[in-house]
Amino acid sequence: MIKPRIQLEGMIPFHPGESTEDLKIRYQLSSIDKMSDNENPYGTSPNVKEAIKKNLDNLNFYPSGNCSKLVNLLAEYHQQPIDRFIIGNGSDELIHLLARAYINPGDEAVMADATFPRYQTNVLIEGGRAVTVPLKEGFHDLDGLVKEINEQTKLVFICNPNNPTGTIVGRQNLLSFIQTVPPDVLIVVDEAYAEYVTSIDYLETTSVLDQYPNLVVLRTFSKIYGLAGLRVGYGMMHPDIAKELTKAKDVFNVNYLGELAAMTALEDQDFIKQSSFTNAEQREYLYNQLQRAGLSPFPSETNFLFIPLKDPSSELYEALLKNGLLVKMMSLPGIPYGMRVTLGTKEVNQRFLQVMNFFSKESVV
Ligand SMILES: Cc1ncc(COP(=O)(O)O)c(C=O)c1O
Repeated sequence: MIKPRIQLEGMIPFHPGESTEDLKIRYQLSSIDKMSDNENPYGTSPNVKEAIKKNLDNLNFYPSGNCSKLVNLLAEYHQQPIDRFIIGNGSDELIHLLARAYINPGDEAVMADATFPRYQTNVLIEGGRAVTVPLKEGFHDLDGLVKEINEQTKLVFICNPNNPTGTIVGRQNLLSFIQTVPPDVLIVVDEAYAEYVTSIDYLETTSVLDQYPNLVVLRTFSKIYGLAGLRVGYGMMHPDIAKELTKAKDVFNVNYLGELAAMTALEDQDFIKQSSFTNAEQREYLYNQLQRAGLSPFPSETNFLFIPLKDPSSELYEALLKNGLLVKMMSLPGIPYGMRVTLGTKEVNQRFLQVMNFFSKESVV
């Protein structure tokens, strides 16, 4: 057996969960509503399908390589110079590239202990050390993160809003944090769910990007834009950082249809506004109803809710599946049992609540 790199020893591959096709067969269901991966239940802009249908004749050609057309649109949308952008095969790829470009073996990256897991995995693969700081009641502990920064620190990750808890870091706290972090440490603010936020205390860090050359902002077309299947994300950062990431990236990292779909989806901001509005309405409704049922979801600014549970609740998981609903059960440090549920359409959320109400009446959750 040929030995792989030492960093991969003992690492558990990410398990995307059982396929909905397999689950449909096992539970004899005609359909399953996915409430497990924080996708947009309303699909994507209808214009995307049309654009793809009209552009299927160029599949024999390589894509552009730097997505210059998409960058131009994003630059206008965010009011940022074009040399601050880099497009990735999902924002996952940008996390990978940040670790690849900046982590030498032994370097450290600081992050919350319950946050998007790819930060840690990519840092470990490059031979770095992931230093984790416990969340406080589901919120980032910014002082705790600052305390862990030392000479070895290269990156600090803030997932804002945080996956899996859905909470945000407030505007002033985030600004003070950015000012406190030494300029030779990259601050990566992952804003994958920014478009879902309704709190006025939220800072979109693009607005301060030009003041902090060590700030990197990540966004994605996988969530509210409804294009998870086409894999497009983007980062905004100082041009010198973008240059380094470009050196580390594959040449044709984003496919032709992905770029086309992202451009089309970006131009349909009505769809985004509608998705955000409906999501916020449903989020408030579900949050209140779950509280009434005696549960304590974290206050979320995203398209999902994290609900701590009393026990492993495999019966609850099964009952949801039997009702055609797939959620994500997960434990977090200090919260041995919990569920992350992506908000669905009104009908799907009602069905979810019925099952939750039944279980809470039985005092099982
Ligand atoms: C916080 C966060 N960042 C990044 C990603 C990766 O998104 P994608 O690679 O689909 O752009 C996700 C996906 O769930 C996420 O939750």
